[in-house]
Amino acid sequence: MRILNFGSLNIDYVYRVDSFVKPGETKAAQSLSVFPGGKGLNQSLAMARAGLAVAHAGKVGKEGGFLLETLQKGGVDTRLIETSAIATGHAIIQVDDKGGNCILLFGGANQDIDEHYIDRALAGFGSGDMLVLQNEISSMASIISKAKSRGMAIALNPSPYSESILSYPLELIDIFIMNEIEAEGISGTHEPEAAASLIARSFPQARIVITLGENGSLCLYKGELVRQKAYKVQAVDTTAAGDTFSGYFLAGLVEGLSTKNALDLAARAAAICVTRKGAADSVPWRKELE
Ligand code: RIB
Repeated sequence: MRILNFGSLNIDYVYRVDSFVKPGETKAAQSLSVFPGGKGLNQSLAMARAGLAVAHAGKVGKEGGFLLETLQKGGVDTRLIETSAIATGHAIIQVDDKGGNCILLFGGANQDIDEHYIDRALAGFGSGDMLVLQNEISSMASIISKAKSRGMAIALNPSPYSESILSYPLELIDIFIMNEIEAEGISGTHEPEAAASLIARSFPQARIVITLGENGSLCLYKGELVRQKAYKVQAVDTTAAGDTFSGYFLAGLVEGLSTKNALDLAARAAAICVTRKGAADSVPWRKELE
């Protein structure tokens, strides 16, 4: 099985603050760091560092070369990534003293995904391969439809949540990995187990994973519910914890682990991720989990 992650590539501008800026407030940041990021890039690195062979498709602007270098150093195949005339996507991230974050996104080149590029990127993939998606690039519905018509399995992390997700052909998704906010957006229900049940009723073909922060995660598939605890650590920066979880969970499934063991692998990786600063840089290597 070949893995294609069709996803975002961002430059992350990370501002350390004691607490997040409030509406109408001006405040000084304690520091600024610039990191590689983007949910797509982070998840490709997580899958590669977990041991999977991964190809990444997506677009950067002309100043995005260091994002490709980051992926290449992590062992990700970047040959499908193209350079757009539009600026590289970026994220303005505040990280507070508790390690929490809030993120403002500028899509840039991530929103320059058109039909011709989709066809070029998917051309070498087909039945038995897996497509991995997040929700930070344009033309999502078309990518899903075209990948499925080629026979690919599809994993979707519907993050960040937007109402447009509800217009995607979600009946074609094989694996959903989402947090509580995204689960509520898709199901209309706040309580995670009830949300998983409702999503399973609408999309009975899919494995549904919901991450619950410090309360762990759950997976509902074909009527079987599996729960996983979160490992307790001192969080420094929670950015990319969800991406690390998604990448490691998928890597676990692809290598044949049970749902329980794949959730456990993902929980251990995410716990290490939150003890480090940055997004891509904080994704652990597999050997660090042992
Ligand atoms: O999930 C974390 C990521 O979200 C950051 O790297 C940022 O680029 C945004 O895409």
